[in-house]
Amino acid sequence: MAKIIDGKAFSANLRGEIARKVALLKQAHSITPGLAVVLVGEDPASQVYVRSKGKQTAEAGMNSYEHKLDAGTSQQDLLALIDQLNNDPDVHGILVQLPLPDHIDEEAVINSISVDKDVDGFHLSNVGRLSIGAEGIVPCTPLGSLMMLKDHLGDLSGLKAIIVGRSNIVGKPMAALLLKESCTVTIAHSRTRDLPAECRQADIVVAAVGRPEMVKGDWIKAGATVIDVGINRIEKEDGTTRLVGDVAFDGAAEVAGAITPVPGGVGPMTIACLLHNTLQQACRLNDLDVPE
Ligand code: GUN
Repeated sequence: MAKIIDGKAFSANLRGEIARKVALLKQAHSITPGLAVVLVGEDPASQVYVRSKGKQTAEAGMNSYEHKLDAGTSQQDLLALIDQLNNDPDVHGILVQLPLPDHIDEEAVINSISVDKDVDGFHLSNVGRLSIGAEGIVPCTPLGSLMMLKDHLGDLSGLKAIIVGRSNIVGKPMAALLLKESCTVTIAHSRTRDLPAECRQADIVVAAVGRPEMVKGDWIKAGATVIDVGINRIEKEDGTTRLVGDVAFDGAAEVAGAITPVPGGVGPMTIACLLHNTLQQACRLNDLDVPE
């Protein structure tokens, strides 16, 4: 049976470390990192995320500013709010919760956030930095996934990694991160031929397709490390719902060396990495190193 990688415990530890560094920053420089989260509309999953972000930001000793706008908000009004936050010295990180309503151009909004206050790593400058292997802000979910991989495996150099899914939020940045760690990286997607055979080659499988339990146990090489990024709510026969990942957990856990569960794997790491990125930006905006 695979070792279960406990994202809940890992993220609690990381958040504790961040809180300690925030306290040092306050003590030495009277700076309290501030994170502004903007939510447009009432998507239930987004509301849950935003509530958790606000709570965990405050628990880390940072200021949390929430801006909830109604679903009909114009792009112009949203851009005006971002401009105001870009110029607010108490705000060091700005996150606009995605997805946005259809009438708003997501790319225009993301790139209107000052690169110095981007905590999602979605700004084109940060995307570019990551693609050339330079320092910058790294998207939270891939960053959290990489932290767990390195904690479990140590040096990743020379390992074969497959990422199932080519999204801008997870698949592509995950590939860039693993390449930087000197893995041999395959990005698989809906047009990939013989996906099971591709997966069976891999020492590391990162599943980020958004399809419940798509990656089967017999696609996994014995001893491989499996990172399941998916969070899918499915209905059970009795009408109640439960969360499952993109990996068929029970089958995969029989052959893998280690695997992240859903829930309690990658999910909790994402917000911890958001706090990590906010602390990094607060320090950089003030020309300081992150406290040790
Ligand atoms: N929606 C789902 N995941 C994310 C994320 O990491 N950042 C933002 N801004 N929106 C999201």
